[in-house]
Amino acid sequence: MLIRRITCARALPLSIPMATSPLFSHLKPPSPSSPLPPRVLSSSRSFPFSSLASASPSKPSSKRANPPIAALVEVGGVKIAKDDVVRESDPTNNVPDNIFSKIGLQLHRRDNHPIGILKNAIYDYFDTSYSSKFVKFDDLCPIVSVQQNFDEVLVPADHVSRSYNDTYYVNADTVLRCHTSAHQAELLRDGHSYFLVTGDVYRRDSIDSTHYPVFHQMEGVRVFSPDEWEGSGADAPSYAAMDLKKCLEGLARHLFGAVEMRWVDTYFPFTNPSFELEIYFQERWMEVLGCGVTEQEILSRNGRKDCVAWAFGLGLERLAMVLFDIPDIRLFWSTNQRFTSQFSEGKLGVKFKPFSKFPPCYKDISFWITDSFTENNLCEVVRGIAGDLAEEVKLIDNFTNKKGMTSHCYRIAFRSMERSLTDDEINQLQWNVREAVQNKLHVTLR
Ligand code: DAH
Repeated sequence: MLIRRITCARALPLSIPMATSPLFSHLKPPSPSSPLPPRVLSSSRSFPFSSLASASPSKPSSKRANPPIAALVEVGGVKIAKDDVVRESDPTNNVPDNIFSKIGLQLHRRDNHPIGILKNAIYDYFDTSYSSKFVKFDDLCPIVSVQQNFDEVLVPADHVSRSYNDTYYVNADTVLRCHTSAHQAELLRDGHSYFLVTGDVYRRDSIDSTHYPVFHQMEGVRVFSPDEWEGSGADAPSYAAMDLKKCLEGLARHLFGAVEMRWVDTYFPFTNPSFELEIYFQERWMEVLGCGVTEQEILSRNGRKDCVAWAFGLGLERLAMVLFDIPDIRLFWSTNQRFTSQFSEGKLGVKFKPFSKFPPCYKDISFWITDSFTENNLCEVVRGIAGDLAEEVKLIDNFTNKKGMTSHCYRIAFRSMERSLTDDEINQLQWNVREAVQNKLHVTLR
């Protein structure tokens, strides 16, 4: 079945006996920034080069940094055509090829991959602690409606996460989910009271060793009916908050051992009160997850008026990087056997042995920005050209001249984790980046 209207039928749950910076915490409502207008990803504008950071005077020969992209992918038995998801000429679409190519890879469903190993370890904890009552979903389609991703979990209309700068839009009403919370409401409506949702999530973001535009989250929800808290002496929200904390402290001990923990109050649109759990690990406080008592409005809108619930969400890469000593988030996508062969089913916390360290190569790019310039857009262009060879994009200089024009200089680190890059190859990449930055972002190179 080809999806035409970009909706995915939900897959059945698996057999029952499951920052990056957080998107929603620290952003107290209402966020002042409103969604940006849709951005056209391609442009026919030609450009004169003003200067080149690399010494290369002529366009080097072409060599692709990105592998070819399949035209069709499959998730949960649903076939998704590239043309349905990537539409360069549609101003309401901002999904590039390299993002489409990640749909369907589902690292979280590979039992020998660090992300799958971690997912299974969390499943084990819930199965053991709750007699396998949690229903697990890990094959839900990542293409969801704006309503599912934002409205149904009460994300305010002016929240920054809704902007085209932060989220991948397939069209004005459809996005690549930016969190697994997108499935909360539908699963509540379906009558589930204990569930875990694991999946790939997509966010436009900066480029460095801990940020990648696709990563994996797990969401957990537990609903209580009145008979569960009545007689406990506690009111419903306090009862749920107590149970939540006990459950997640147990999970943290299951994954990290006997660590010190602390709870930090925070804000999420879908929970009240909301908390973050931090653990003291490898000599620093580290955020493990976000959670809270589900907003009553979500429950009443979805047929659970008299109930109370808790929910949590955690980023699997963040935790896997620490547990397996994986130094760069790009490695999770490596198909190099020297990476993949180091992990095996059921072995949580085996320490990754770096197989090589090739030198990075730095190239600077400076330009006069426009009002609509954003760093996420720049990073998107760089990734579009260099793919996973782009290790970091960092602002190293920023000034405004007397005429009020603002200049930014970014340092791009190119590095492969598998081989040495040649000068020619890097010059080619930098040339292409300059060309694309000028064409697509309409900035003036310096
Ligand atoms: N959706 C949140 C994020 O992506 C994570 C999260 C926080 C999920 C709190 C929850 C929750 O269910 O209760 O940043």
